Amino acid sequence: MHPWKQLLLGAIPSGLPTALGQNVIDLNGDGWTVSSSALNITVPGRVPSQAHLDLFAAGVIDDPYHGLNDFNFRWIANNNWTYTSKPIQGLSNDSKTSWLVFNGLDTFTTIQFCGEEIATTDNQFRQYTFDISDALKNCKGSPTVSINFGSCPKIANEIAADPNSQSKSNDSSRPRKKSNSPPEWPAGIQGVFELPNREYIRKEQSDFGWDWGPAFSPVGPWQNVYLVQSETERSAYVVNTGFDIYRKGQINHIAPDQSQPWIVNASIDFIGSLPEQPSLSIEIKDIQSGDILKSESLDNVAVVGQAVSGQMTVDADAPRLWWPTGMGSQPLYNVTVTIRSDGQDVATVTKRTAFRTIFLNQSNITEAQIAQGIAPGANWHFEVNGREFYAKGSNIIPPDAFWPRVTEAKMKRLFDAVVAGNQNMLRVWSSSIYLPDFMYDLADERGVLLWSEFQFSDALYPTDQPFLDNVAAEVVYNVRRVNHHPSLALWAGGNEIESLELPTAKKKAPEHYEFLVGDYEHLFISLILPLVYENTRSISYMPSSTNNGYLKVDLSAPVPMVERYDNGTDQEGYYYGDTDYYNYDSSVAFDFEGYPVGRFANEFGYHSMPSLQTWQQAVDEEDLHFNSSTIVLRNHHYPASGPDTHNYKNASMGMAEMTLAVERYYPIPNKDDSVANFSAWCHATQLFQADMYKSEIQFYRRGSGMPERQLGSLYWQLEDIWQAPTWAGIEYDGRWKVLHYTARDIYQPIIVSPFWNSSTGDLSVYVTSDLWETAHGNVTFKWTDLSGKAIPDNAGTPETKSFSVGALNTTCVYNTNISKITLPSVEDAVLIVQLTAEGHLPNKEHEAATTFTHRNQFTPAYPKDLALKDPQLQLSRDAESSTFTVEAKSAVSLYTWLDYPAGVVGYFEDNSFMLAPGEKRSLTFFVQKDETGGKWVDGVTVRSLWDQTTS
Ligand SMILES: *[C@@H]1O[C@H](CO)[C@@H](O)[C@H](O)[C@H]1NC(C)=O
Ligand SMILES: *[C@@H]1O[C@H](CO)[C@@H](O)[C@H](O)[C@H]1NC(C)=O
Ligand SMILES: *[C@@H]1O[C@H](CO)[C@@H](O)[C@H](O)[C@H]1NC(C)=O
Ligand SMILES: *[C@@H]1O[C@H](CO)[C@@H](O)[C@H](O)[C@H]1NC(C)=O
Ligand SMILES: *[C@@H]1O[C@H](CO)[C@@H](O)[C@H](O)[C@H]1NC(C)=O
Repeated sequence: MHPWKQLLLGAIPSGLPTALGQNVIDLNGDGWTVSSSALNITVPGRVPSQAHLDLFAAGVIDDPYHGLNDFNFRWIANNNWTYTSKPIQGLSNDSKTSWLVFNGLDTFTTIQFCGEEIATTDNQFRQYTFDISDALKNCKGSPTVSINFGSCPKIANEIAADPNSQSKSNDSSRPRKKSNSPPEWPAGIQGVFELPNREYIRKEQSDFGWDWGPAFSPVGPWQNVYLVQSETERSAYVVNTGFDIYRKGQINHIAPDQSQPWIVNASIDFIGSLPEQPSLSIEIKDIQSGDILKSESLDNVAVVGQAVSGQMTVDADAPRLWWPTGMGSQPLYNVTVTIRSDGQDVATVTKRTAFRTIFLNQSNITEAQIAQGIAPGANWHFEVNGREFYAKGSNIIPPDAFWPRVTEAKMKRLFDAVVAGNQNMLRVWSSSIYLPDFMYDLADERGVLLWSEFQFSDALYPTDQPFLDNVAAEVVYNVRRVNHHPSLALWAGGNEIESLELPTAKKKAPEHYEFLVGDYEHLFISLILPLVYENTRSISYMPSSTNNGYLKVDLSAPVPMVERYDNGTDQEGYYYGDTDYYNYDSSVAFDFEGYPVGRFANEFGYHSMPSLQTWQQAVDEEDLHFNSSTIVLRNHHYPASGPDTHNYKNASMGMAEMTLAVERYYPIPNKDDSVANFSAWCHATQLFQADMYKSEIQFYRRGSGMPERQLGSLYWQLEDIWQAPTWAGIEYDGRWKVLHYTARDIYQPIIVSPFWNSSTGDLSVYVTSDLWETAHGNVTFKWTDLSGKAIPDNAGTPETKSFSVGALNTTCVYNTNISKITLPSVEDAVLIVQLTAEGHLPNKEHEAATTFTHRNQFTPAYPKDLALKDPQLQLSRDAESSTFTVEAKSAVSLYTWLDYPAGVVGYFEDNSFMLAPGEKRSLTFFVQKDETGGKWVDGVTVRSLWDQTTS
């Protein structure tokens, strides 16, 4: 049984393009073999797949995710694996030309057709098409395709060891490395995880390990394979499209003029040949109503190489606009383009798209903005359809080490969790893959913006010509493939290169710094930027995530974007770029004065353990201890030195950071049952993680109304690749950690947040709103002790304050110092702040106002020091409505946590919340997947902070 079988239906691209005189043979599915001659192994294979998955399905190996198999399975990565098809049936008798079409090969291959070598490949991210007409003509009998996949760690090491690989640039105008500079990079610059030299190869960079994942370095035909034959001289098989919808005159780095009409530019990549003067017709259909928005012939039709393109105009206000979730609806349109010649349809292709502009504004702060109280420097925020908004979300990493088993059903659950979590943007981090269309489709439907990156991260990259040519092909293919998705928000060249790699190079290899900056600009600015601009006018580009913006853009200059780097950033009171901030010294975790002040926060976080239920999927019962060797060695922060199963040094540092953080702030679990104690420890690390992110998110959101005009927070990281301690808010199988619930709460449109400076005692309470107009309301303040009794005279605090909070703004509703609050005991007190406000959601300004509520609490002591009392929680279930009711009978319940058993995936409508004594909350559990036949309901439990230490 193939566990990833369900995927295959979803993975086939939206309908094989229909065309005249073509024979398309689908080579996907069963009927392949995978073999290693060196190891004398042959097992049944399938496509799309990877060798690990087929070996697992055949029972040759255990679950790759079990125990320490990450380290044990290096032998798979160190060998070649050959995929061979069964004899191909259904070939046409009168074909003129035949091709093999590979939508993705991971990574180094030698391909044979009917025993004849036809090609080699070396890039996981490219689509390849090969003319096999001659090989087919020479073939006796039914042909087979065989693809020999090389060992990526071995090939990467060979390239790195080749003295010419770095400096073999043929371009004599480029500075060469000094003769004393080794072919390797200057020491200490490249981010190395489990396997070295990933930067030399165009493969998912985290396949060689990362600080949250394993290093399997899988290989295989990871995307669909077809054999295409044309039976006429003139035929076109569509292999890709570049559909671009933008406002007339729009250019990537300049704010689009919303009054301009839309330009629809449709470009189609094909194999085959077209007549010189084909015509293109287009139909744009509103998917919801079925109404045709436009149906006509395209203008300016041109065939250039293997692409045909044309253009049309749509009136400025004719289409309905697509908005991110929380800001409006997501109307989608089918754009169907048909290539016609001599009155016949040669080929037709449909893409689902939408009308919106999305723009990354990095322009200088204007005098008018300064007059509004915005600090000088440069903007760094997104604008959708011309509107500023607050970006709320997280960073998405590969959801599995093996993409062919990532099912559409699982990704639906993930994207539903994103929307349920009040997130409107994900950063598609740059050492994964270019996401498949079905994931952009899910984001298009749900209004989730995807800041997308090219696959370069935490390293410096080669710039020899073959490498650049390879990258160029990858960039053009993916920019065109993805561009029609309205969820696409941005292209970034890479991750942490400008903000981390170059500064490290400056420090560690000052003599090479200038050369390395030149290399960086050569790849990310001179090469990639023009390729992006040539293929899309609708999407902004920046060379690397986390930057200080640019000084100027001159598309005719050899380096068309002049980066600001550190120019000006030492000027007090000036703000430029976005921020990327980690601090594993948990003693300052809640010290918001230490958080970075910038225009946007694109990464921040701290790791935590997954739940007991998730650990049980991957490790044996005897390993369920916080510091068992298996658990520790699955912690890859700091990077695993694997496959050494005796080196605990790096992993232990990460375990110690979690341990210390818990011990500093939370009651220390002390349960008799060792598994229960382990579970309580895992939970405690999640409480710390969630509280710390909450503290940072509140700080960044408040910044929307501060001089820095902060307009985004995307935390690290949305979800897990496997079962391990990581920064994730959602565990491998979809279970929410405390973090995802807490982020959901604090990403609501209007929030009330206490800010406590524990050194000075200053306490202020802010209301922050990301609505687009002013909201009005009040906040109530209620001090009680932990048994729930009101503190006399409300400890001198006003019981209510009314406020109005402006659009994308914040307002302070209360400001005091703990010393002025009359508390009998700081360890036995909690302040409950409750907000009620009236306002309009974006694009609902003409509808009735919405009532917003938000509750938060503050204790003037850390949880471990609180005089907790047993809240005597009671849980009941209403069988009819599948809701669970929790009641705190006798004391304040902090971090009230409903837990559910393994076998079901879903989420409660709220979790990790406070309950006052006598207070009841009824909560629905949203089931996303149930393998228990409904029995999970009997396994739901409730606990709170009080229970962490009880036996
Ligand atoms: C290869 O494996 C087959 C089947 O397991 C076995 O019969 C054969 O002897 C093996 N050959 C070598 C060279 O080990
Ligand atoms: C392994 O695969 C690579 C890439 O196809 C190829 O260059 C190499 O010759 C192969 N080696 C063997 C022993 O098959
Ligand atoms: C939009 O196009 C898709 C793919 O071709 C098709 O399945 C769907 O039915 C179309 N929708 C409408 C409303 O025509
Ligand atoms: C933005 O301001 C910088 C000074 O920080 C200046 O050098 C640059 O030319 C300005 N850019 C534009 C496009 O005006
Ligand atoms: C300032 O910007 C220029 C042009 O991008 C760059 O060459 C220089 O290194 C920058 N200076 C600093 C201190 O970053």
